[in-house]
Amino acid sequence: MKIKVEAVDAYIPKNRVSNQDLAKKVDTSDEWIRSHTGIGARHIASEEETLSYMAAEAAKKVLAKSDTDPLDVDMIILSTITPDYSSTPSSSCIVQDLIGAKNAAAFDIKAACSGFVYGMEIARGLMMTGQYKKILVIGAEKMSSVLNWEDRSTCVLFGDAAGAVLLSPSGDESGLQDSILRAEGQGALALYQKAGGTRNPFHGEIEDKADLYLTMDGRAVYNFAVRVNVSILKELMERNRLSIDDVDWVVPHQANARIISAAAKRLNFPQEKFFMNLEEYANTSAASIPLALTQMEREGKLKRGQRILTVGFGAGLTYAGNYIIW
Ligand SMILES: CC(C)(COP(=O)(O)OP(=O)(O)OC[C@H]1O[C@@H](n2cnc3c(N)ncnc32)[C@H](O)[C@@H]1OP(=O)(O)O)[C@@H](O)C(=O)NCCC(=O)NCCS
Repeated sequence: MKIKVEAVDAYIPKNRVSNQDLAKKVDTSDEWIRSHTGIGARHIASEEETLSYMAAEAAKKVLAKSDTDPLDVDMIILSTITPDYSSTPSSSCIVQDLIGAKNAAAFDIKAACSGFVYGMEIARGLMMTGQYKKILVIGAEKMSSVLNWEDRSTCVLFGDAAGAVLLSPSGDESGLQDSILRAEGQGALALYQKAGGTRNPFHGEIEDKADLYLTMDGRAVYNFAVRVNVSILKELMERNRLSIDDVDWVVPHQANARIISAAAKRLNFPQEKFFMNLEEYANTSAASIPLALTQMEREGKLKRGQRILTVGFGAGLTYAGNYIIW
């Protein structure tokens, strides 16, 4: 059985922060950020734009687009590393209430920037049980809340957003064909937030305030990202007997234009087949792939029948790919 994407959409906070805006607060420049990452701006959520609010807005859009009654949704899978509450409740339960999907089961998954790709495969497995017919997979992040705005090596890289898809049984051969989900736990501390969990609880006193925010070994993550982009795409193409010509689009996690270009080059893949919108939104972690798909659809680039490969990579370290016939 194949599962298909009935609708895709996204929520983007209105507040746009350009590199120039950022350079007024942090010791950085538009030139440095663009030349090292390809990023030109990011959208930053307000206090009212909570993680669950953004996720619910994206979900409402896909329900409206696919003319789906929220009561018909069986399951909500929300991927995020920036939930409303650190332990409980899950943000997916809050989303369930906000969208009125009373009959849906709801849970969060945490696979960072690979989270949307993981969510698609989890949804496929659940749908194959025959018990769930309509599943919302949402990737949403409020990265601005875990960024150290004094650390120029991380704060320039990320943005906030939410993206969602509604999945249902395909009825034909289109839809999600194959997925690869992987992790390299030995790299766990290359991108992490030290304090706030049960290992280093935060109860109002802390030696180093930086421990409350994301810290990253940028070079290690860069090398990992290029390597796994190449390996996932190669493996997905080999497993599904696809040549470069067979693939219409690669939709990579939108972390850094240099990572994406380096991977395309190593694979001898035409760069034009790698969709990129990170210049406007920066790295929105689990939201980046559904946000990219939404923009592709709006620009008329996404057509039924196209062969699409998605690749996610990020903290964990996790990496993953989906092969979808749209
Ligand atoms: C973060 C990243 C862009 C840094 O690029 P880099 O070429 O490795 O740069 P370096 O970290 O070596 O820093 C080079 C210099 O730029 C400086 N620098 C770092 N961030 C800066 C910024 N925002 N503005 C200006 N200068 C900056 C550094 O302090 C360093 O200065 P120094 O040479 O005087 O010490 C790059 O490593 C990267 O993209 N890594 C992957 C990050 C990522 O995508 N993470 C999420 C994965 S999902």
